[in-house]
Amino acid sequence: MRKKIVAGNWKMNMDLAEGLKFAGSIEKYFKESPSEKVLVILCPPFIHLAGMADILKHGKVALGAQNCAAEASGAYTGEVSAWMIKSTGAQYVIIGHSERRSYYHEDDKLLNKKTLLAINSGLKVIFCCGEVLKEREAAQHFLIVRRQLEEGLFSLTAEQMDMIVIAYEPVWAIGTGLTASPDQAQEMHKYIRELVKEKYGNDCAKKLPILYGGSCKPSNAAEIFSKPDVDGGLIGGAALKKEDFTAIVEAI
Ligand code: 13P
Repeated sequence: MRKKIVAGNWKMNMDLAEGLKFAGSIEKYFKESPSEKVLVILCPPFIHLAGMADILKHGKVALGAQNCAAEASGAYTGEVSAWMIKSTGAQYVIIGHSERRSYYHEDDKLLNKKTLLAINSGLKVIFCCGEVLKEREAAQHFLIVRRQLEEGLFSLTAEQMDMIVIAYEPVWAIGTGLTASPDQAQEMHKYIRELVKEKYGNDCAKKLPILYGGSCKPSNAAEIFSKPDVDGGLIGGAALKKEDFTAIVEAI
């Protein structure tokens, strides 16, 4: 059985006090009604990590960052390394989010470097992929996702792939209110699993969690999560409201 995962990507929201208070309320919720079958991960901005690691120390909810530097250490003003993230107590890092790819021009080669650094620092990676609207309209979506995975991820060994969760996030569905239909999500997730199977074999493909992201909300989560190759979600806007986020976890 593959692990079911719901991860909240807070993006650039909530100041320190707000974030710690919110993390406390999520932790309390899952302490009182533990979600045995679902791994819940919160991915706040860097400044929240150390404080949240303390709040989440009971292990009901895991912790991740949203990005890491492409270098291990040194004179890189403003950057935060994978090892620093690990030292806060976080276990995960999101790499290759479409907002990083488009606003900060992060390409496949750079994302591959970040992924290797993260894994070597002991962090699990939520590796994002997905096409923009123009690419889907031109029926290029499979090609794009294939390239993102081949160049960003497939230099890893099969052993290193154990540290990977893939998130398929069609860019046209992020923050737009448009969602991929459950069938569109399933079609792409199945394709991703087949690519992983071709490269790493059936065992690796079968245990790889593949999450869907893009306007996931309580009203559509159950249907999307019911698809056989959809193992959970990477949630943006709805992760900022306790009722919505917990309802999405319950939907699994
Ligand atoms: P929304 O859920 O706000 O569409 O964002 C999805 C996302 O980008 C998660 O990483």
